[in-house]
Amino acid sequence: MQQFDIAVIGAGPAGYVAAIRAAQLGFSVACIDDWKTPQGKASLGGTCLNVGCIPSKALLESSENYERVLHKFAAQGIKAKGVELDLVTMLARKDKIVGELTNGVAFLFRKNKITSLHGRGSFAGPPRDGAHQLEIKDGDNKQTIAAKHVVIATGSIPRPFPGVPFDQECILDNAGALSLSAVPKRLGVIGSGVIGLEMGSVWRRLGAQVAVLEAMDTFLPVVDEQISKEALKIFTKSQSLDIRLGVKINSIKREKNVVKVLFEEAGETREMECDKLVVAIGRLPNTSGLNLQGVGVKTDTRGFIEVDDACYTGVAGIYAVGDVVRGPMLAHKGMEEGVAVAERLAGQKPHVNLDTIPWVIYTAPEIAWVGQSEQTLKAAGRAIRTGFFPFSANGRAKGLGETGGMVKMIADAKTDQILGVHVIGPFASELIAEATLAIEFGASSEDIARIVHAHPSLSEAMHEAALAVDKRTLHI
Ligand code: FAD
Ligand code: NAI
Repeated sequence: MQQFDIAVIGAGPAGYVAAIRAAQLGFSVACIDDWKTPQGKASLGGTCLNVGCIPSKALLESSENYERVLHKFAAQGIKAKGVELDLVTMLARKDKIVGELTNGVAFLFRKNKITSLHGRGSFAGPPRDGAHQLEIKDGDNKQTIAAKHVVIATGSIPRPFPGVPFDQECILDNAGALSLSAVPKRLGVIGSGVIGLEMGSVWRRLGAQVAVLEAMDTFLPVVDEQISKEALKIFTKSQSLDIRLGVKINSIKREKNVVKVLFEEAGETREMECDKLVVAIGRLPNTSGLNLQGVGVKTDTRGFIEVDDACYTGVAGIYAVGDVVRGPMLAHKGMEEGVAVAERLAGQKPHVNLDTIPWVIYTAPEIAWVGQSEQTLKAAGRAIRTGFFPFSANGRAKGLGETGGMVKMIADAKTDQILGVHVIGPFASELIAEATLAIEFGASSEDIARIVHAHPSLSEAMHEAALAVDKRTLHI
């Protein structure tokens, strides 16, 4: 039987990064993963690389370029005639990027001498001679390995609407929504969360009529209210996404090639008929078939593996990282946990600060934030000062032709320490890095105000938002 210092179950961003860091630190490492492409080929990288972050961003970029050439370039004196959508090429480009990156993980595994084992892993009962026993099943093939430490990184799966399984023809999860072979005339989306907005944006730009049904009365409740209100205005008014808040879905039925959704809105029963329906109502931790009970690893009421701040499950030698444990379901959060577990096993003292995980929603404009929102700080009775700066007054944004949105900074009223930064606008995903660094370093808004920012750049909006906290913006 093969023996390892560390076995990682799952090769998504949390697992593959844990495996690489552990190998760098001198451990012998195996990584078990069962992902297969629709063509039946093993593919590393988990949800993120195969059907999540990477393919969605490829399609978001392509669809945005399509929209730019159709509707935005003329204002810059660029007239395009005969513009055509070639969806086959667009999807092939997405698949090529996915292939390059998933093969890249396989290359990194070889480079770091990580043993990559394809198949479904599970605990084969209690440990023997101080090592955990893991069974790996791939079809009829079975093998057992032993490892002193196990890192569970089995990720998450899409949550179906109760009683309505995904058929991937008309009722789609994220994987189905990323692979439609034609632009649907009418696309319905259940859930105006991150996937609903990103996938809704892609197919709207490519020509679908998109209606989004959301259970909550508030749009993007985790986002700072000033930003989420601005976002809702842009998505509904300028981009004609039909977002309905506060609805109750009564039933979802597929009839041949249409889907009928019965729902209640403002006390009335309504029906939405669509050609394809994306159900994006959150994701569930993936622990099925791991035999956690066999080793005493506990899950909480929502099915997440219980861990402490160090991702330790409380069972000797077993850690869990990424989407399968508490905290935001984000690739970079999982990666940092993977690194931290490997370093802890090597005797180091790493720390992952869940309070400074940046979030990005890759709509156009992008929405990004780090730290706390004005509404949560006010609800906690915290005295704050806020400053904001609109991109409409930023020279670089004007040059880009992307002047919607703003940067908002929130600081403690007494100490001036930055508590939250929220951006809606062009390249918010890049701008948020400065704010993350500032919050992690305990910076004040004055620190950012005193730092020189290149001109003309979008980062000047961050600088001006910091100046605005002290009511001394220069350019509005
Ligand atoms: P996963 O990526 O889910 O990987 C888990 C792996 O373990 C999978 O390969 C799975 O097959 C395998 N596995 C599970 N059980 C077993 C088992 N028993 N044996 C063997 N293998 C097993 N996050 C961002 O930060 N930025 C984004 O832009 C972003 N975009 C997203 C877009 C979409 C459409 C979706 C769905 C998600 C997106 N996410 C994004 C979230 C991100 O994909 C996840 O947070 C991330 O993939 C979680 O990583 P993980 O390693 O914990 O799990
Ligand atoms: P989500 O949690 O972001 O949004 C789900 C939405 O569905 C919520 O607004 C919720 O109120 C709504 N909802 C739940 N039940 C409903 C019902 N019965 N009827 C109508 N609405 C209902 O989940 P989503 O979009 O599925 O994404 C899952 C996770 O994947 C995200 O939370 C995020 O962690 C990750 N992700 C991250 C991305 C990024 O970082 N850019 C992109 C896509 C996904």
